[in-house]
Amino acid sequence: MTTQQPSEVAGNDERRTIPSRIKSFSRRGGRMVRQYENVLEKYGSRFIIDLPAGDTPTTISTDAQVDLTTEFGREAPLVVEIGPGSGEQMVFFAKAHPEWNILAIEAWHPGVARCIAHAVKADVWNIRLIEGDAAQVLPIVFGLASAGIDDPNQVAALAGIIDEHHPNASNPRADMLWTFFPDPWRKARHRKRRLVAEPFAGIAAGLLAQGGLWRLATDWDDYAWQMRDTVESSPLFDNLHVRERPDENDPEPERGGFAPRPKERLMTRFEQRGIEAGRTIHDITARRNTIGAMPVRPASSSLRNEETQTQISDETPHRNSSLKGK
Ligand SMILES: C[S@@+](CC[C@H](N)C(=O)[O-])C[C@H]1O[C@@H](n2cnc3c(N)ncnc32)[C@H](O)[C@@H]1O
Repeated sequence: MTTQQPSEVAGNDERRTIPSRIKSFSRRGGRMVRQYENVLEKYGSRFIIDLPAGDTPTTISTDAQVDLTTEFGREAPLVVEIGPGSGEQMVFFAKAHPEWNILAIEAWHPGVARCIAHAVKADVWNIRLIEGDAAQVLPIVFGLASAGIDDPNQVAALAGIIDEHHPNASNPRADMLWTFFPDPWRKARHRKRRLVAEPFAGIAAGLLAQGGLWRLATDWDDYAWQMRDTVESSPLFDNLHVRERPDENDPEPERGGFAPRPKERLMTRFEQRGIEAGRTIHDITARRNTIGAMPVRPASSSLRNEETQTQISDETPHRNSSLKGK
């Protein structure tokens, strides 16, 4: 998550403190193997929503304008995935649900190429990717009042608010948001880099439609408690599994608040690794409630009726529109 860290720079005659952004990911794997470079060259333009760059490699310009309906070439139920990694989950879902649009935000450049390679191999075309830091990108893409703001306290104060004058404010809201196995930032001094915290909950609330689901999963206990606490303390979300599945390792062992594993969530290598290391997987499912939310769209009705059964229903409306780029 973007938080601020004071850094000193020399001003004209004085030293002043300016904020610099802290990120929920580390820069790694800059070099890509030729195979992925080729994939980007050949298919990048069909999957990547190419937005004007911001002032760092993982930001977009605050003036970036994007029309998601045009980018997908159709209106359809929308799921947003943050940090798809190599894209196993989203490609699995996209293949099984061609009637959905899937928008993924990934900060790791080689990851973007891997996602595309995976999608091409699986012959799925209902995915679009934006390369960048979701905490910076999403408020801009969905025209939130927190667009362009780095200060986490201000972002939290603007929770869920859409800036109706923002050029991207008319983009459709998402029916689901996935944050599966986000970087855990285990060391105490790094915890502030965790994505799932109060400021990001406000962004999640702004991009989800009323009734939309925020699904989270982690294999690290103390991050699971933090995720549960984050959704339960937000007035804009309802945890759908309050008091369920209590865990004796929880500092509040009676409390629970954990969801069953959603049927649409694939076992990725991150989950596999956690299980092999003996860690417990916790799922959390929160529903965007009505406070200041965008009106309900018919497309999401099956989810709202159903969540709770934690699967994408066969009732999910089917749309026959063709996809741009297919
Ligand atoms: C531990 S991996 C999990 C990948 C995948 N979700 C899975 O379950 O297999 C976390 C991924 O999230 C990405 N990530 C972390 N913070 C992000 C952010 N703020 N915006 C976009 N991607 C982010 C990382 O680059 C990485 O690919």
